[in-house]
Amino acid sequence: MQLLQDKIRDFGNVLSPTVLKVDAFLNHQIDAALMKAVGEEFAERFKDVQATKILTLESSGIAPATMLGLVLGLPVIFARKRKSLTLSGNLLSATVHSFTKNVTSEISVSRDFLQAGDQVIIIDDFLANGEAVRGLLSVVAQAEATAVGVGIVIEKGFQHGGKELRDNGVRVESLAIIDSMDTDHIRFR
Ligand code: G4P
Repeated sequence: MQLLQDKIRDFGNVLSPTVLKVDAFLNHQIDAALMKAVGEEFAERFKDVQATKILTLESSGIAPATMLGLVLGLPVIFARKRKSLTLSGNLLSATVHSFTKNVTSEISVSRDFLQAGDQVIIIDDFLANGEAVRGLLSVVAQAEATAVGVGIVIEKGFQHGGKELRDNGVRVESLAIIDSMDTDHIRFR
């Protein structure tokens, strides 16, 4: 997606060979017009599936997932990383280890919002090692729902998550795939 690649080149900041800072438009400040275009692009890529729900993980997946939900007219659920006062009882949960942040969190979704038979598109901002997506796939499986595809805003193609998911038969649609990056140059696939 050219608009997204331009944004990454113009406003992304390569912090290390593996970490890209995109706080200016995705992870902190949100470029709403870009997110709208991202939602439309996901809708185009997934136009052949009959989804019933969109599922993401708080916090940075919420903006792109919501834009897709708006285009498709579907509910958007975000898995929580922290237990909230009101989130209790009948939960679908999975453990997610972040290699980037070196923290493990339990992600949870209420069974009220994901049911057997649901056709789910999973959306997230980054795909690195694939831990978050694996956790979300586990939540979908526990609900006896079906994951019909995974939509990623930025995939770091030099990390193994995308390859492993695709090798396991998961449909992954990434709007920008970075093959390599350093402070001077970001190379897209
Ligand atoms: P994985 O899920 O693919 O295995 O990725 P990983 O554990 O490495 O990533 C964990 C968190 O770090 C995720 O955010 C992910 O979006 C973020 N992340 C991974 N690589 C990068 C990167 O290069 N740049 C930035 N900015 N973030 C990266 P999170 O903990 O879910 O945080 P948030 O959604 O609340 O922002």
